Amino acid sequence: MNQYDSEKLEGILSARGMEPAGSPDKADVIFVNSCSIREKAESKVFSLIGRLAGAGNGRKPVIALGGCIPTLRGKEIFRSAPAVDLLYGPDSLEKLPAMLEEYFYTGKKQIDLEFSDSTAWDGPDPCVRPSDVTAWVGIMKGCDNRCSYCVVPDTRGPEVSRPVESILAEVKALAKKGYREINLLGQNVNSYGKTLPGSVTFPELLGMAEEIEGIERIRFMTSHPKDLTDRLIERMAGSQKICPSLHLPLQAGSDRILEMMNRGYTAGDYLEKIRKLKSAVPGITISTDLMVGFPTETDDDFKKTIGVMEKVNFDSLYLFIYSRRPATPAADFDCQVPRDAAHARFEQAWALHRKTVSRKLAELEGSTVELLCEGEYGVKSTKEKDDALITQFGRSAGGHKVIFEAEKNLTGKILSVLVTRSAGFNLYGKPAAERNAHGRRDKN
Ligand code: 5AD
Ligand code: SF4
Repeated sequence: MNQYDSEKLEGILSARGMEPAGSPDKADVIFVNSCSIREKAESKVFSLIGRLAGAGNGRKPVIALGGCIPTLRGKEIFRSAPAVDLLYGPDSLEKLPAMLEEYFYTGKKQIDLEFSDSTAWDGPDPCVRPSDVTAWVGIMKGCDNRCSYCVVPDTRGPEVSRPVESILAEVKALAKKGYREINLLGQNVNSYGKTLPGSVTFPELLGMAEEIEGIERIRFMTSHPKDLTDRLIERMAGSQKICPSLHLPLQAGSDRILEMMNRGYTAGDYLEKIRKLKSAVPGITISTDLMVGFPTETDDDFKKTIGVMEKVNFDSLYLFIYSRRPATPAADFDCQVPRDAAHARFEQAWALHRKTVSRKLAELEGSTVELLCEGEYGVKSTKEKDDALITQFGRSAGGHKVIFEAEKNLTGKILSVLVTRSAGFNLYGKPAAERNAHGRRDKN
């Protein structure tokens, strides 16, 4: 979501004639897009601001701090981090040029932390996107869930869905520009449509996006397990374009902890949804978010998380140590878990995940996967410069990153690649054929 906000911000500023400076020393204004989901993310931002205040070779740059830290901490930041000149929230991006102008005219610090009840990205697509092939498309903002550990409902405000017509217009425009993959983005996509008249559901929205010619692959995130419906599973199963891949945050495997987190499902409910997904969408890849060290988590609770990991065999994992966040119910729960115990659980869960991924990727060696080439991979060494082969990467429909070499640049092409080896979290291979039968999708 933050990455997407940065793309929008760059577009909004470019439209007003501003240009990327290339380095902090050359910048007149520095925009810091912040995250406050964990304490570490927050402290990193404040130490970055400390360093940036000294950039500019003696001429302090204007520092604009945006994203979730301002909506969490408010104007108090002007006192605790005096180098900050502007504070703007996730819904204030469009107001930023006017705020900057005001700042330059008056020299007065500016602040706008309002949540808007319309979707801030309505109207023409303002994004400057780093890829010409795959694009984020925001379909909603905010969150109405109240997971007991999470600041997002406070920092991004209540859930608001973006009107269908606005989303489809953006997807059509992207297809026209040559984009082949979209990733529909929201904090909880399965509750899409609740704030709209006419009650369009997320599976219905997917159906409409599938109709758009030129878009070959559709992904989406994030799904909340409690809102994942059979209808969505059917939609995924019956689609040539929706990728067989799902991000479904589990958070914990212990029912007692899940209840304290206010997640609204049990480990059994989660496993039942995974069973349905795996049987309806063969070869589906599942990624998840997990947290260790939630208040009162015992070794026994943690073992239950490991137990679910062993049953699901997640293809990808975002693993976090619980971080106590201000004004969240969990911050007041007694019995916060000691750091050492949380770290040990983190290491154990991560080791298991690495083993699972190595095994699953090794199973793909020798098979052919269909991938969408996203561009060149890495920086060429001087030795390689005259090499006729270009190192490139793409993703399989299941989301595996595949690195390969080819004589010509295949960015935007869908091709079959023979997997020759796997290492770390990546696959390596060599092209077997460029796009074959239209509409075919691979299951990897
Ligand atoms: N501490 C640790 N991890 C958190 N997340 C959200 N809030 C916290 C917190 N207080 C994680 C959850 C969520 C992901 C985006 O970040 O796993 O799914
Ligand atoms: Fe946070 Fe829960 Fe909303 Fe996700 S669903 S953003 S974890 S409150």
